Amino acid sequence: MSEPNPDLRAMLCGIRLDDPILNASGTFDAIAAKRVFGRRLIDRFPFSAFVSKTITVAPRHGNPPPRLWEASGGLVNSIGLPNKGLDGFLAEDLPQLAALPVPLIVSVMGSSPEEFAELVEGVAPREEVAAIELNVSCPNVHSGLIVGEQPVEAEALLVGLRELTAKPLIVKLTPNLADPAAVGAAAVAGGADALSLINTVKATPIDPETLRPWLGNQSGGLSGPAVMPIALAQVRAVAAAVPSTPIIGMGGIESGLDALMFLAAGADLVAVGTACFRDPLAAERIRQELTKAMRERSIFSISEIPGRTGWALASTEIEGQLEG
Ligand code: SIN
Repeated sequence: MSEPNPDLRAMLCGIRLDDPILNASGTFDAIAAKRVFGRRLIDRFPFSAFVSKTITVAPRHGNPPPRLWEASGGLVNSIGLPNKGLDGFLAEDLPQLAALPVPLIVSVMGSSPEEFAELVEGVAPREEVAAIELNVSCPNVHSGLIVGEQPVEAEALLVGLRELTAKPLIVKLTPNLADPAAVGAAAVAGGADALSLINTVKATPIDPETLRPWLGNQSGGLSGPAVMPIALAQVRAVAAAVPSTPIIGMGGIESGLDALMFLAAGADLVAVGTACFRDPLAAERIRQELTKAMRERSIFSISEIPGRTGWALASTEIEGQLEG
C-alpha cells in the first residue's frame, strides 16, 4: 500500500489555510493576473492566502528608474511602494482582491504611528480583510520611522494599533539589523499576532560602465536564493525568541525542499516571492515538491517536521551563533 499524502493544512491566527504557502507581498499582481488569465487564475490560484502589495495613506509613484538589478542568485529592487493610497485601494483594488478564492491579508506601511493607525482603521473593519501585515521593513522608502529597528518603538506601535482591531496583526521584520529577534519579540509583547520575515537585504549594485550606483534610488533590497541562508538563520532566531507566535518564513524559496527547510527552521508558513516573477505558478510547483519531499521523509504533517520543537531551549546556542 502506498504512503498517504502529507496533510499540508495550516492555521494562521485562527484562519484555516489549505496549505502553508502564501505569496510575499508585492511579488504577485493578482489583479493583473486575473485580467490576463481570467477564470483560470481563480481555478488554479497558487497561494493559500493572498498578501497585497503594501499600501500607504497617500498614493505613491515609487522610486525613479532604474528600479531592478539582476544579481548572481537574486534580484535587487528599489521599487519604492508605488500604490493608489488607502482610498484608491479601498475603492478600486479591495473589491477585486476580495474576489480571490483565498483569505486576503492587506499589507500597510505608515510613515508615523498616526499613519499606521489610519491605515489599520481604514482596512480592518472591511470584512473582506482577514488580517493585516504591518510592513515596518521596506528598505526603499525613507519613512523616518524606526519602528522596524528599535524594539521599544516596535512595541509602542503595536500597543497603539492593538486597540484599533481584533483582526490578526502580522509584523514584517527587516533582516537589516543585528538582532531581528529582539524587534520581533517586542512586537509580540506589544500585541502582534504573527511575524513574517525576511524582507529584502539592503544592497547597492554598481553600474560597471559608470562605476556609480545603478539604481535610481542608489540602493535597494536583495531577494532570491542568495538570501536564503540569511533568512533561515533569522527565522530560527526569531522562532527561538517567540516560540508560541506563528512565523511566516520567506527569502529565496524556489523549491519544495527550500520550503521544508524554512518549516524545519521554525516557520509555520512560508511565502514565495522572487520565484513568482519568473513563474507565476511557482508556488503550485513548490507545493507539489513539498508534498513529495515530506512523503520521502515519512513526514505526514507540518507539526511532525523534525527540528520544529526545542528552539526555545536552543536559543542561547543560536544567539551565540549569530554573535559569532
Ligand atoms: C518596494 O516597493 O520598494 C518593495 C517593498 C518592500 O520591500 O517592502
